[in-house]
Amino acid sequence: MIVISHVVALSNNNVIGINNNLPWSLKKDLAHFKVYTTNKIIVMGRKTFESIGRPLPNRLNFVVSKTIKDIEGAHVFTSTEEALSNANNLCVENGYKEIVIIGGGYLFRETLDIVNKLVLTRVDCDIDGDVYYPEINLESWEKTSSTEHKQDSENEYDFKVIVFEKN
Ligand SMILES: NC(=O)c1ccc[n+]([C@@H]2O[C@H](COP(=O)([O-])OP(=O)(O)OC[C@H]3O[C@@H](n4cnc5c(N)ncnc54)[C@H](OP(=O)(O)O)[C@@H]3O)[C@@H](O)[C@H]2O)c1
Repeated sequence: MIVISHVVALSNNNVIGINNNLPWSLKKDLAHFKVYTTNKIIVMGRKTFESIGRPLPNRLNFVVSKTIKDIEGAHVFTSTEEALSNANNLCVENGYKEIVIIGGGYLFRETLDIVNKLVLTRVDCDIDGDVYYPEINLESWEKTSSTEHKQDSENEYDFKVIVFEKN
């Protein structure tokens, strides 16, 4: 089975972004994101790509956009379906083990019904934002791990990385 995951950091009130940026500074979560996504296919919306500002190294970068045609170092698709179909083929043909959807709000909403893994960074804050992660009913999901991190000088809030899987 090909794993298709969401990797997302969200506040207690489901905020994931503000002003096309992350609403917090969490160095350990960025390190977790890097480790988790390395050597995988990452799929993102155009705004998330612009927020990151460059293709991420050591990952196959897929960007969904109807307004941008080419990005050096990334593959651009005009629909999420097309991006996922190509990613799926690469998993079968080239041995990629996972398709990781990394945001933002549009991409998460569009793929909620097809993902079989959620890697959620639950950031312990209620915060203002302009992009939200959708409400998810976790009843049909199995929690497979949970790791706690404490707030410190490089991590603005306490947070937990919680993994859910579905067969
Ligand atoms: N906390 C987290 O884990 C996390 C992760 C990622 C992003 N974020 C935050 O989320 C925010 C960005 O999210 P967002 O929801 O505004 O935007 P987004 O999902 O990153 O990108 C939206 C854009 O993607 C393209 N797109 C989306 N669905 C499409 C479809 N079906 N067909 C064709 N194109 C499609 C469109 O680009 P065109 O307009 O070019 O057609 C659309 O404007 C930022 O604040 C970012 O920092 C947070």
